[in-house]
Amino acid sequence: MCLRVHKLIVLWLGFVLLTLVPRSCLSVEIDREGLPDTGLNTTDWETGALPPLDDMWELNDFQIAAKNVLGARWYASYRTAALDQVTYEANMNIWKKIRLNGYTFRDVSDVNLNTTILGYNFTVPFFIAPAAYAGHTNASAELSLARAAGKMGALYAPSIESTKTIEEIADVGFANQTMFHQEYVWSNRTLLIDDLSRIEAAGYKAIFLTVDNTGVNGIRVQAMRQTGELDSDSGHSASFTLDALAEIQNLTTLPIVPKGIKTAADAKTCLDLGFPAIYVSNHGGRVLDGVPTAVEILLDIRKQYPEVFEQMEVYADGGVRSANHIITLLALGAKAVGLGRSPIFANIYGEDGVDRMLTLLQAELQTSLQLMGEADIQNVVGNTTYINTKQVEVEYFGIS
Ligand SMILES: Cc1cc2nc3c(=O)[nH]c(=O)nc-3n(C[C@H](O)[C@H](O)[C@H](O)COP(=O)(O)O)c2cc1C
Ligand SMILES: *[C@@H]1O[C@H](CO)[C@@H](O)[C@H](O)[C@H]1NC(C)=O
Ligand SMILES: *[C@@H]1O[C@H](CO)[C@@H](O)[C@H](O)[C@H]1NC(C)=O
Ligand SMILES: *[C@@H]1O[C@H](CO)[C@@H](O)[C@H](O)[C@H]1NC(C)=O
Ligand SMILES: *[C@@H]1O[C@H](CO)[C@@H](O)[C@H](O)[C@H]1NC(C)=O
Ligand SMILES: *[C@@H]1O[C@H](CO)[C@@H](O)[C@H](O)[C@H]1NC(C)=O
Ligand SMILES: *[C@@H]1O[C@H](CO)[C@@H](O)[C@H](O)[C@H]1NC(C)=O
Ligand SMILES: *[C@@H]1O[C@H](CO)[C@@H](O)[C@H](O)[C@H]1NC(C)=O
Ligand SMILES: *[C@@H]1O[C@H](CO)[C@@H](O)[C@H](O)[C@H]1NC(C)=O
Repeated sequence: MCLRVHKLIVLWLGFVLLTLVPRSCLSVEIDREGLPDTGLNTTDWETGALPPLDDMWELNDFQIAAKNVLGARWYASYRTAALDQVTYEANMNIWKKIRLNGYTFRDVSDVNLNTTILGYNFTVPFFIAPAAYAGHTNASAELSLARAAGKMGALYAPSIESTKTIEEIADVGFANQTMFHQEYVWSNRTLLIDDLSRIEAAGYKAIFLTVDNTGVNGIRVQAMRQTGELDSDSGHSASFTLDALAEIQNLTTLPIVPKGIKTAADAKTCLDLGFPAIYVSNHGGRVLDGVPTAVEILLDIRKQYPEVFEQMEVYADGGVRSANHIITLLALGAKAVGLGRSPIFANIYGEDGVDRMLTLLQAELQTSLQLMGEADIQNVVGNTTYINTKQVEVEYFGIS
């Protein structure tokens, strides 16, 4: 009884004190990590709680919302990059050095964003890239990513390290939906072969085979501080040679797209080995720190092996947070552009969040295209007339 009265008094005192504290002291202060300031107002947000979905107006907003909700451990697991994050920062900042060329006096009343990827139809040239363990954002995990992609007509390629199984994700897909699946080169060959046959049996149409973390993961410092573990034993083969790459095409009837191509030389190798496509990526800066951005890699391939773009499809990702980033990579020759962290961050709201993120990006893309005087996204692919990358080229190639 006595205890109960005490508790009530403490509660009452707490309430009185709270009402005396000025409003601003309760407001959420979130370090924005140098993301563009577009006026997102977090004053009324509550730490740890889902902010209103209506506050989300561009892709970076979802990162700040995720940071507010997830807590340090899981936010770091998604946000982290390797070592000094030179590549991560470069991915985020390269866009500031690029200018878009837009034209007026053209009919842009009927805009087309439709595209094909490996011959399959999609309504947008961007896709949800594989990202491990979506389940820490929302219990629906990868299922909401699959549903949202399906509703839009966008490609989704789940990670082999997903929270949900290969089959569970396939099962929530719509009848009209095409999905690809990511795979790692496991040192356990039985597992590799099992995965490939399960992926094929479940109805996925192609494999993104991630080839950029040979034997080890990158050293991801932000995440290590949270887990207290040096997370480097990936289970991936460390002896994945050229012969092994050639041979792996025989393990499945599905087309294989090597993911994580980060030099022009490797792009040419994949072309020579007869792959139908490559996926240029530095894995969101999470593997080898110091490697170039997708913009720089694509420029280098264009310079050294332009035939790559004529003879195979090229996809790219890394730091893509707006439609203008997509347009830039398309103009450099990418047929489709991947999004890693953004869908994961949007998934704190489940399917509704991913829907909104994709819809905002689609609206941005349609708008930018119209403002550039181009009605058909296909005319942008490989058409460098639409961009000025000279600032990047001077820094990357030097003046000769
Ligand atoms: C949390 C997280 C997990 C990832 N897991 C995988 C994975 O399992 N397989 C893979 O090939 N790439 C993985 N990636 C890399 C993404 O597919 C993609 O290349 C990268 O995130 C793109 O950069 P962005 O996050 O700046 O959009 C992961 C990325 C993140 C952020
Ligand atoms: C942010 O929102 C708060 C509370 O709604 C409001 O008082 C404040 O003026 C807003 N700040 C800006 C910069 O708009
Ligand atoms: C794009 O594809 C969708 C779905 O197949 C179709 O409904 C739409 O008419 C196409 N748009 C254009 C401009 O071709
Ligand atoms: C893909 O789109 C093309 C052009 O719009 C159309 O002719 C074709 O039937 C579509 N294929 C499928 C499988 O929907
Ligand atoms: C595929 O079907 C789903 C469910 O019926 C629908 O919401 C979606 O718009 C369709 N996608 C396309 C590209 O037509
Ligand atoms: C290799 O993978 C298979 C299939 O998942 C599994 O049964 C086996 O235990 C694994 N072997 C080792 C050494 O981990
Ligand atoms: C792949 O299989 C084909 C047909 O069985 C065979 O001719 C070829 O040598 C194999 N390639 C490799 C690299 O194993
Ligand atoms: C997942 O998202 C849905 C839809 O926004 C939401 O209702 C649900 O609360 C979220 N689940 C979790 C565990 O946060
Ligand atoms: C590239 O785009 C420009 C500007 O719209 C256009 O004039 C030119 O014909 C395009 N080139 C090709 C090869 O499509």
